[in-house]
Amino acid sequence: MKILVTGGAGFIGSAFVRQTLRGKPEVHIVNLDKLTYAGNLENLAPVAADPRYRFVRGDICDEALVERLFEDEKPETVVHFAAESHVDRSILSPEPVFQTNLRGTFTLLEAARRARTRRFVHVSTDEVYGSIDPPAEADENFPLRPSSPYSASKAGSDLLALSYWTTYRLPVVVTRASNNYGPYHFPEKLIPLMISNALEDKPLPIYGDGMQVRDWLFVEDHCRAILAVVEQGRDGEIYNIGGNCSLPNIEVVRRILRTTCKPERLMKTVRDRPGHDRRYALSSEKIRRETGWTPLVEFESGLAETIAWYRDNQDWVRRVRSGEYQNYYSRNYHNRDREMGAMSGERAGG
Ligand code: NAD
Ligand code: DAU
Repeated sequence: MKILVTGGAGFIGSAFVRQTLRGKPEVHIVNLDKLTYAGNLENLAPVAADPRYRFVRGDICDEALVERLFEDEKPETVVHFAAESHVDRSILSPEPVFQTNLRGTFTLLEAARRARTRRFVHVSTDEVYGSIDPPAEADENFPLRPSSPYSASKAGSDLLALSYWTTYRLPVVVTRASNNYGPYHFPEKLIPLMISNALEDKPLPIYGDGMQVRDWLFVEDHCRAILAVVEQGRDGEIYNIGGNCSLPNIEVVRRILRTTCKPERLMKTVRDRPGHDRRYALSSEKIRRETGWTPLVEFESGLAETIAWYRDNQDWVRRVRSGEYQNYYSRNYHNRDREMGAMSGERAGG
């Protein structure tokens, strides 16, 4: 089987490529990735020389390139990860999320429709359901109430993808996963940012009161779920993928500080994210029932493995933090920092 993976140089896409080539000898993968700030070929070093793997640098919005790729490679399956994936960046500059997440998804769907692709897995997120009051959990029929430009673009692309099943019978499946964590995670997201700042004794910026709840899913468990959906998912269906591990942010950060043996005084409250969703909560009953998938990695061991990876790969962190990252970090944190500094008399940010 040949799979076209988009965004395979990012955090989850690269884990999927590594895991699939390791575990499925019959699978060949073509990876289409633009290599934005979040795409990194170092993440694919373990498979770079594998004859079953090919990398193509390109934009999913580039119609001619995408069309040619489908003609040349004739993939039976598409697993579509490529996206602008960070909420804070989507708040600072909303345009790229609409370009890549909507226009790019449309371009791929059109090419897949013309090529009569046999399976199109659109990788999406629990954020499309918006903030959920306890004790409710979202199942796949829960209303969509996205809060940020990022989550609105994902909700839009989910609906677009599903419309290609309803209208054209393109065999689309949509997955909606909760917050992933693990090795190779770009250090702009909560867990890798807090680990890498803690290891360098830098302040850990907590948005608002830190009581927002996320459900943590180890990235390898997410990739196994996607493979299960590739193999057993039903056309036109949505599958939630949760980690069964809901924690307030402040508790996650405390555990990181304990494991890295760093003091709690590194935590600094900063101005909250605008439109910040208070709580995500998913029911993953459907994927469990239909495919038998269940998350295997407990948060405690997944977090310890992740922290060990960041300790052992500080050169990787240094490289991805050079250049553009500095600019983003100062745009996102320094104004926050000054505002909170004026309120509390202390400074945050890195
Ligand atoms: P990431 O930001 O780490 O990687 C995104 C990848 O897409 C990068 O390699 C980037 O170069 C590539 N890309 C971006 N724009 C592109 C374009 N126009 N053309 C081609 N390639 C492009 O993202 P991630 O965290 O690995 O997320 C992957 C997917 O999973 C996204 O669709 C995201 O919405 C979804 N998701 C993420 C999480 C999470 O916790 N990270 C949870 C649920 C769902
Ligand atoms: O829920 C799935 C989503 O998880 C994915 O769709 C997104 O691609 C992914 O980025 C992630 O979105 P979140 O906004 O939940 O993740 P992030 O790591 O940015 O933030 C997690 C929580 O931590 C959130 O409540 C905001 C908070 N936070 C984040 C950062 C970066 C802080 O308190 N301080 C920070 O510096």
